[in-house]
Amino acid sequence: MLKFIGVFLAAALAGLSAGAIATGTTPLTLFERAALSGPTTRVAGGTPWDETFFPNVPVQTHDGRTLRFYDDLVRNKIVVVNFIYTSCSNICPLVTSRLALVKDMLGDRVGRDIFFLSISIDPLNDSPATLKKYAETYRAGPGWTFITGDPEHMDVLRAKLGERSSVKAEHRNDIMIGNDRIGRWGRDSAFSNIEVLAETIQEFDPAWIKPIPERIETSALPANYSLHDKPGSFLFAKACGGCHSIGHGDIVGPDLAGVLERRDHQWLRRFLREPDRMRAEKDPLTVELDEKYPGAKMPNLNLSNSDVDDLFAYLSSQGVSAASASGGAKVEAAPPTAPSHAH
Ligand code: HEC
Repeated sequence: MLKFIGVFLAAALAGLSAGAIATGTTPLTLFERAALSGPTTRVAGGTPWDETFFPNVPVQTHDGRTLRFYDDLVRNKIVVVNFIYTSCSNICPLVTSRLALVKDMLGDRVGRDIFFLSISIDPLNDSPATLKKYAETYRAGPGWTFITGDPEHMDVLRAKLGERSSVKAEHRNDIMIGNDRIGRWGRDSAFSNIEVLAETIQEFDPAWIKPIPERIETSALPANYSLHDKPGSFLFAKACGGCHSIGHGDIVGPDLAGVLERRDHQWLRRFLREPDRMRAEKDPLTVELDEKYPGAKMPNLNLSNSDVDDLFAYLSSQGVSAASASGGAKVEAAPPTAPSHAH
C-alpha cells in the first residue's frame, strides 16, 4: 500500500503536467481503445459505448433503490464515474473528497443532466447502508449515486469499465466521464485542477458554452493550485484541500486553522506521516479525533519529512490563529482561501 501511495504522490507532485494533459479538451478515449485519441462520436450503426456495451445489470444504490445500470443510471445522461470501496484508507477518500468539490462547482446541474456514479469494488462489504454513510460523509447529495450489488454483476460491470485489478488497493483511480446521448467518453483524473475538471465535464455537453473568465487567477479553492504556488500549498491543494479548510470550517476533517498552535509539533509530524499507525496504537488524541469525525479517517498519504516541512510552512503562512477558526461551519461551496499570489 505504501508503495502504491508513494507512486501516487510522486505522480501527483511531479504530475501537474499529467493532470493538464488529462484535462485537455480532447479527452482520452476509453477502455481498450486507449490507444486511439480524441472523442468518440456516436455514428450510424452505433459505437461500442452504448447499450450494446454497458451491462444493464441490477445494482443497489446507497439510498436503497434497485436500478438497472445502463437504463437508469447512464442512458441519455452525462455521467462521472469512479470506483471506490469504503474501507479504503487512502486514495478513495482523497478522490471522493475532490469529486465533492467538483460537484459543488457544477452546482444544480448535478442531478439535472450531470450525474456522479461511484461504483463499489467491494460489494461483499459495501452494503447500501455502508455506502449511505460514506455518501453523507462526503456531502454527496442528489445526483451522486453510490452503487453496489451482486458480486457477480459488479464484477461484470467493473471489468467492462476497464477496472480489472485483482487487489482492491490497486484499483483504478482515474475517473470516467461520458455523455451517453452522443456516445462520447473519456478518462480524466480527480487530481487535476478542480475548476478545469468541472469545465471538462461540462464540455461533454455539446450545448455548453464556456463562460468568459472574469478573473485571471486560477485558484479560489483550497483544493486547487496554480503553477506559482509554493510546494506546501500545492501539496495541500492536491492532498488535503478536499477534506480540510483553513479557517472556513470543517469539511470532511477538522478546520486546520490554528492547528500548529493547538497541537504539539512532534505529535503533529507523526500524525501527518502515519495516522493509521497511531490509530492502531490507540494514541489518545488520535482516538479522540477519530471519534469526533466518525465518517472518515485521516489517510496515510505516505508523506516524507520534507513534505511535512512544506505543509508546516504553508499552514503557518496562512497565519490563521486558533481564535479565528470558525468552529465547524459546514462549507457549502468553494471556500475562498486562495493564497495571495505575491511574486
Ligand atoms: C479524505 C479526507 C482527508 C484527507 C485527504 C486529509 N485529511 Fe486530515 N483528517 C481527516 C479526518 C477525518 C481527520 C480527523 C481524524 C480522523 O478521523 O482520522 C483529520 C485530521 C487531521 C489533522 C488533525 C487536526 C487536529 O485538530 O489535530 C491534521 C493536522 C490533518 N488532518 C492534516 C491533513 C493534511 C496536512 C492533509 C494533506 C496532506 C490531510 N489532513 C488530508 C481527513 C482527511
